[in-house]
Amino acid sequence: MGLGLAAGSTPRPLYAELARRCEAGALDLSRVDFFALDEYVGLAPEHPRSFHRELERVLLSRVNADPARVHLLAGDAPDPEAEAAAYEARIARRGGIGLQILGVGRNGHLGFNEPGSSFASRTRVVELAPETRAANRLEELGDEAPTHAITLGIANLLEARALLVLATGPAKAPAVSAMLEGPVGPACPASAVRGHGDATVLLDREAAAGLGGRG
Ligand code: GLP
Repeated sequence: MGLGLAAGSTPRPLYAELARRCEAGALDLSRVDFFALDEYVGLAPEHPRSFHRELERVLLSRVNADPARVHLLAGDAPDPEAEAAAYEARIARRGGIGLQILGVGRNGHLGFNEPGSSFASRTRVVELAPETRAANRLEELGDEAPTHAITLGIANLLEARALLVLATGPAKAPAVSAMLEGPVGPACPASAVRGHGDATVLLDREAAAGLGGRG
């Protein structure tokens, strides 16, 4: 069983705290399998904007992770669909995901499961929504700007034993309302968490501002 890692800014304080505890000798992650949630197609692992690099920087290089237990996606794989299939098989071989850490996109995406993603979707190549490309400032990459990504599917996320969903800041308030109080369905992929038996959602006040008829 492993720990599923979302990239993005939201989980960084959590990863910093895990690193702090490891550095203090209070936490041992050497027997944990780590799995990336998603990756941009076309960005090599060493690319400064790859999620591979980001997860290494914010967490994996700062904890006592066993390199043999770190499972990240290769965005530059020659056949991204084959990479997706091989990655899913690897997770299954390692016993699946025990705890999946998730952020929420402003458009309600989970990983790169954009609005419209089936709840039966599995690890695959997806096209990025224009609002995701904007939110993640991909245009800064010019000709290299990714248009597609590999992501675990909604079905994979629902198979994790537990989910920890994090959302902070006012930009996430509409997505949080849709996730928790809107219709459950592919129009808001994050609403799938309401069908999981062990999902914990942690919000700051700003992200929660639209709940309960507020906002
Ligand atoms: C990104 C990633 C997700 C992330 C989400 C929120 O595009 N695909 O893994 O959870 O969108 O990102 P952030 O936490 O930076 O707002």
